Amino acid sequence: MERSSWAEPFKIKMVELLKMTTLAERKKAIKEAGYNTFLLKSKDVYIDLLTDSGTSAMSDQQWSGMMMGDESYAGSENYYHLEDAVKKYYGYKYLIPTHQGRAAEHIISKIMIKPGDIIPGNMYFTTTRLHQELAGGTFIDVIVDEAHDPESMHPFKGNIDIQKLTDVIKKYGAKKIPYVCVASTVNMAGGQPISMENLKAVRALTLKHGIKIIHDMTRVAENAWFIQQREKGYAKKSVAAIVKETCSLTDGGTMSAKKDAMVNIGGFLAVNDWDIFEEARNMVVVYEGLHTYGGLAGRDMEAMAIGIAESVSDAHMNARIGQVLYLGDKLIDFGVPIVQPTGGHGIFIDAKKFLPQLTQDQFPAQTLAAELYVESGIRSMERGIVSAGRNAKTGKNYYPKLELVRLTIPRRVYTQAHMDVVAESVAVVHHRRAKIKGLKMVYEPKYLRFFQAMFEPIK
Ligand code: F0G
Repeated sequence: MERSSWAEPFKIKMVELLKMTTLAERKKAIKEAGYNTFLLKSKDVYIDLLTDSGTSAMSDQQWSGMMMGDESYAGSENYYHLEDAVKKYYGYKYLIPTHQGRAAEHIISKIMIKPGDIIPGNMYFTTTRLHQELAGGTFIDVIVDEAHDPESMHPFKGNIDIQKLTDVIKKYGAKKIPYVCVASTVNMAGGQPISMENLKAVRALTLKHGIKIIHDMTRVAENAWFIQQREKGYAKKSVAAIVKETCSLTDGGTMSAKKDAMVNIGGFLAVNDWDIFEEARNMVVVYEGLHTYGGLAGRDMEAMAIGIAESVSDAHMNARIGQVLYLGDKLIDFGVPIVQPTGGHGIFIDAKKFLPQLTQDQFPAQTLAAELYVESGIRSMERGIVSAGRNAKTGKNYYPKLELVRLTIPRRVYTQAHMDVVAESVAVVHHRRAKIKGLKMVYEPKYLRFFQAMFEPIK
C-alpha cells in the first residue's frame, strides 16, 4: 500500500485565537457594514476568506528576518537581499521596491502608456486596469472564451486567445500597444493558470511586432504549480525552475508580494530594460520613497526576500493548493456551483447559478457574500458586477459574464477542519437559497467601488 495523504510542510509555533459571534450580532454587523464584507470589522469575523493578500502566516525565518531590518534611509542591506532574491528566483535584472502591487502598476502604467494606447491582457484586474485607464490607455480582454465559462474544464483558462491578440494588433497597430499585460494566475477568472506553451506563443507574436510583455506575477508560483501538474514536459521540473522560465518569457513584472511571497505588505516592479528602470527609479521617489526602499521598511524587504524563496518550494505549493482543492472538492460534493477546475488561491462560487432568481442588477454575488457572513461569520468577497465597475468613458456599468463570490484562502493560516466548517456553512446557505432576496446599491464611490459601496436589502 502507498500513502496518498499529504500534510502541511510546517508545524505551528504560535496561534491567534478566533472570535465567535451570535446570529444577532452578525445581522447587526452586516447591516452597519452596508452589506459589504469589506466594511465589516475583522473582530466580527470568524473565518476570514476575504482575500489572500497580506493575510498569510509568515515563517519563523521571516519573523527573524524582521529583526534584521537595516532601517537606513538609503542603501539598506535588506534592499540588496531582495534584489538578489528577485534575480535568483525570477531572473529580472532591475528592481524597484514598492509598498504593494498597485504602486508598481501605477509606475509602469505612467511610464509605458500614452493617451490613446491599447493594453491587451488575459482578463482585467481591478487596480491594474484602473492604472492603465488613469494613464490614458484602454484595456482589451484577449483571454480565451473558456475563462468566462464557469463550467469549462479547460486546464489553462488563463490562456490568451492568440487569434484575439492578433486581431487587436491588426486593428490598432503595434505602435499603439506598449505591452501585453499577462497575469499568472488570472485572479478574476478564478485563479486560473496560463500554460507555458501559450506564453511562448504570446512571446513569439509580441517579438514579431516589437511589443513588450509586462507580467502581473502576483501568483506566478501558483501558476507554476499548475504547469507542473498539468502541462506536458513539466512534471519533473521544480516549481522554482518553472517560475524562472515563466519570467524569462516576459520583459518585466509587477508584483504584489502580499500573495505568493507571504508578506503582510510589500511589492515591486522588476524590469530588464535599463531605460524603463531609469524612469521608474525617477518616479518612485515621487510616489513611494527612495529607490532602495520604495515605501517599505528594511524589515519588510527582508521578510519579502525570504518569503520569495519559501514560495517556490514544491512542498509548500503542494500543501497550499492542495488545501484549496480540498475545499473545492467538498463544495462540489455538496452540489454547490463553483468555477471549475478549482483555481490556485480560492474557491469562486457561481452566484448566478446559486441565486438564479436574482438579476445581475440585484447583485447576486454581493448578496451571497452577505448571506454567508450572516449564516456563519465567514467573510468572502464579491467578484462580479460591483467589482467590474463602470466604463471610464461611457460611465455605464460593465456586466461581466462571471458573477462570483470568492472564498480566498490565506497561505499557512487555516486548517483542514476550518475548510470543513466553510464547506458546510456554504452548503447550509445553498439549502435555503430559494428564499434569498437581492440588494440595491445606496452609495457608490467613484473608484474601485467594491471596496466601499453600501447596499440595502430589497423589500
Ligand atoms: N494583481 C493581481 C492579480 C492581484 O490579485 C492584486 C491584488 C493586485 C495586482 C494588486 O496588488 O493589492 O498589492 O496593490 N489583489 C488582492 C485581492 C487585493 O484580494 O485579490 P496590491
